[in-house]
Amino acid sequence: MCGIVGYIGPRQAAGLLIEGLRRMEYRGYDSSGIAVVNGTGLKIMKSAGKLSALEQQLDGGMPSGTLGIGHTRWATHGAPTTPNAHPHTDQSGHIAVIHNGIIENAGAIRKMLQQRGHTFRSETDTEVLAHLIGELYRGSLEEAVAAALREVDGAYGLAIISEDEPGVLVAARKGSPLLVGVGEDEWFVASDASPLLEHTRSVVYLDDGEMAVLSRDGYRIRTLETAQIEKPVNQIEWDLTTIERGGYAHFMLKEICEQPESLQNTLRGHLLEEEGTSRVSGLNLSDDDLKGIERIVITACGTSWHSALIGEYMLEEMARIPVEVEYASEFRYRNPVIDERTLVIGISQSGETADTLAAIREAKLRGARTVGLVNVVGSTIAREVDGGLYLHAGPEVGVASTKAFTSQVAALALVTLRIARLRDLSILQGREFIHALQALPGQIQEILNRSADVERIAERFTDTTNALYLGRGVNFPAALEGALKMKEISYIHAEGYPAAEMKHGPIALIDENMPVVFIAPHDAVHQKIVSNIEEVKARGGRIIALVNDGDAEIERLADATFTIPTTLDLLSPILTIIPLQLFSYYVAVRRGCNVDQPRNLAKSVTVE
Ligand code: F6R
Repeated sequence: MCGIVGYIGPRQAAGLLIEGLRRMEYRGYDSSGIAVVNGTGLKIMKSAGKLSALEQQLDGGMPSGTLGIGHTRWATHGAPTTPNAHPHTDQSGHIAVIHNGIIENAGAIRKMLQQRGHTFRSETDTEVLAHLIGELYRGSLEEAVAAALREVDGAYGLAIISEDEPGVLVAARKGSPLLVGVGEDEWFVASDASPLLEHTRSVVYLDDGEMAVLSRDGYRIRTLETAQIEKPVNQIEWDLTTIERGGYAHFMLKEICEQPESLQNTLRGHLLEEEGTSRVSGLNLSDDDLKGIERIVITACGTSWHSALIGEYMLEEMARIPVEVEYASEFRYRNPVIDERTLVIGISQSGETADTLAAIREAKLRGARTVGLVNVVGSTIAREVDGGLYLHAGPEVGVASTKAFTSQVAALALVTLRIARLRDLSILQGREFIHALQALPGQIQEILNRSADVERIAERFTDTTNALYLGRGVNFPAALEGALKMKEISYIHAEGYPAAEMKHGPIALIDENMPVVFIAPHDAVHQKIVSNIEEVKARGGRIIALVNDGDAEIERLADATFTIPTTLDLLSPILTIIPLQLFSYYVAVRRGCNVDQPRNLAKSVTVE
């Protein structure tokens, strides 16, 4: 999604802005632009396409100025063209605005302004907002922005500068994340922490309805109505090296390979081996609260929704609580049956996904307890839930989610273990579960050591146009996730199904051109999946199978097999997903795809 960066201080802004935008490229975008103010006025450069297109324009020389804003746009209203790229200016051309989000009443405001003689150069809602700010300008940018924002409906993260006030940068937030970076005699705004880390790790997270006014002497936080409010300065734990590629060809590969460590970090401090349970005090729920839960609803999107499905299997099997998993986008517009004895768990890597956030707000409104399993510290979901666990997986830069997935499943395992031990699970079963969890990082490493085997399998399937992923039980969600990874980064059409469902339709697709990936560890449904493999074999399908060591039966049937270490059935997706992530990675690389920034995708989906 769109990225915002802004700077005010003693240094030249343009280079810092480009560098900041580069750090946000991973979020996905289709045009970019910067605006810089200096003694002689406002200079704007923008371009459709990748940042390199903007840089080419700047080859002739960076505009000088120590105040500036920069933006990467992911088109929502209007095509990804240069005129629609941000920054946008007001009618006078003095005020420049960059904007993440959507102004819902832009149509009506545009009409009103047109009647007052305004002319527009783009199709965007952002330009309408720029004109409105200009229309309301009476000598103070800060007040003009506050006045304009009182008129608009919708969501925004904003940064605004004016050539008439070369010492002021105004930022505002409602429904789209924004941080102020506090440096030494210099200040930044950004829509996520990555462009700031090079300069400062001290940040102030803006909340909805808040504005930041940055000047050459410091910054002030206010609301649309109140001139000043106090906000704490937080320290970001990540440093620059954690968001750099560190020798890997792609962020996705780096993040796949980080999973032994990221998983360890998720589990760290939570396992109480002696008592066979977990410590999850961050949930802010007492044991009595946890015992009183009658139902759990887990809500999420995309990959996080897949981990939620695995959570459903774990919680129902071990804690014996009814669980429903809901797409956040559906949950928020239904009339969900929830009350104060329902626990609503929101899962999100970014902590900013608009649908998940809205679902959690809806659940809170209806009296449910809400907890979040979130990776990005200080993100909106993390701050709005009643309690939760941070995943501590470290920054995930590759657009396709990998290490966040395994950490989400591990976090769900921690929650499950605590609730299960308060109910029926024995101490011995609890300890067995803990030992299995502790073994996972080493087992993932063992799989990663054999990545070359997955690469060799990928070579044989690079030219495929379709693929089916089949699994049963808790590995059905792993099949969905494997298929999602494949379609996201290689653009191969891939579908995940519960293996037995194949006969109810998809079997019609099977022929010698259809690779079918079976996730078939030696679990409770192993024999059933062998029958499903036979069915594919009988129709000439090409079979790739993930099996446990010594599975001669499946090895005989499959065209390619990859072995995974043995673990408890419920935890097996944490292992089976690793070769599937690698498989899609290697296929996509061989097809020449932009693995870290797949077409049309955004890392953090902050619009509906
Ligand atoms: C898939 C992927 C997306 C996200 C989804 C939710 O690789 O990255 O499907 O999982 O957009 O994002 P979060 O977890 O940030 O809420």
